[in-house]
Amino acid sequence: MIISSSSDYREAARRRLPPFLFHYIDGGSYAERTLERNAGDLADVALRQRVLHDMSGLDLSTQLFDERLSMPVVLAPVGLTGMYARRGEVQAARAAVRHGIPFTMSTVSICPIEEVASAVERPMWFQLYVLKDRGFMKSALERARAAGVTTLVFTVDLPVPGARYRDAHSGMSGPHTALRRALQAVAHPRWAWDVGVMGRPHDLGNVSRYLDKPTGLGDYIGWLNANFEPSITWQEAEWIRDAWTGPLVIKGILDPEDAREAARFGADGIVVSNHGGRQLDGVLSTARALPAIADAVQGDLAVLADSGIRSGLDVVRMLALGADTVLVGRAYAYALAAQGETGVSNLLELIEKEMRVAMTLTGARTIADITTGSLAQP
Ligand code: GLV
Repeated sequence: MIISSSSDYREAARRRLPPFLFHYIDGGSYAERTLERNAGDLADVALRQRVLHDMSGLDLSTQLFDERLSMPVVLAPVGLTGMYARRGEVQAARAAVRHGIPFTMSTVSICPIEEVASAVERPMWFQLYVLKDRGFMKSALERARAAGVTTLVFTVDLPVPGARYRDAHSGMSGPHTALRRALQAVAHPRWAWDVGVMGRPHDLGNVSRYLDKPTGLGDYIGWLNANFEPSITWQEAEWIRDAWTGPLVIKGILDPEDAREAARFGADGIVVSNHGGRQLDGVLSTARALPAIADAVQGDLAVLADSGIRSGLDVVRMLALGADTVLVGRAYAYALAAQGETGVSNLLELIEKEMRVAMTLTGARTIADITTGSLAQP
């Protein structure tokens, strides 16, 4: 099939992956209204077209913490990446490094952090959940530090798992999961050989050593579900701020008051996020939540945003709404599932090209030139 946009990668991923994996990436929670609004509200953001200014020599690079990024894009933490392509975290990290942007490793990755760190030159970012098992969290921080991780992304919008009804229908959860997944694998032989057989082990590489002889995905999901921590407060999270010496980014902020709390807490950045519409359905899209949050805290910490970004045009829209940098999750997961490292690389090239068009036609020569003034109706 011809691939010319990120929606083509989605279609290619849908064809290649067993449904339990495709729907895990693609789905949101409850009726998926927030999932839809993330993309829909962003697509409705109108930019202000400017013409006949010298737009040669665009500079897409940006500075974030101590890192130079070739463009204001970071690969978001995505769970189970190594199930979408063979040792998928390594492939995605390689593509990110080639493009000069950070890869964020999820706690619930297939590859352990050490496997990815030894495969790429650029230090990566690492995402950690709030979990009951403090011993696990401490040890994960130590492993991240030893692996040269620069930035810690601390996810705070998962004190309970969102209700993801698609997962029960697709075989990700619900009855007879092992049988249903095996039948789906048989019906997707290219994936079954490439990832199902050659991509083993399918452990959660960052977690397996803490479990007593896990036998499959179900044990890991059980571990995670038993470990969500609904009682955590800003005060109790302070030990993480103290234990991590590098930049700390709080992911899952959707309210200006929480953004101010994050600044008081001493975070270096926030990710304005509703977890890609995977947690509380019915909350605001990030495109709608972002402007007030950026107004409240810009200048105090870095404002990152995710949820709904599928193109370079969307990146420019998010920057115009107030983000300093964006995280891209689903779009890269589709590309990875479709074509592995090459797919992620091509997607990043596509995003860069789309950003160039949007910047040229809005009169922004640098990333700093993309402001609320780039919006048709600020
Ligand atoms: C994990 O964070 C997920 O959204 O599945």
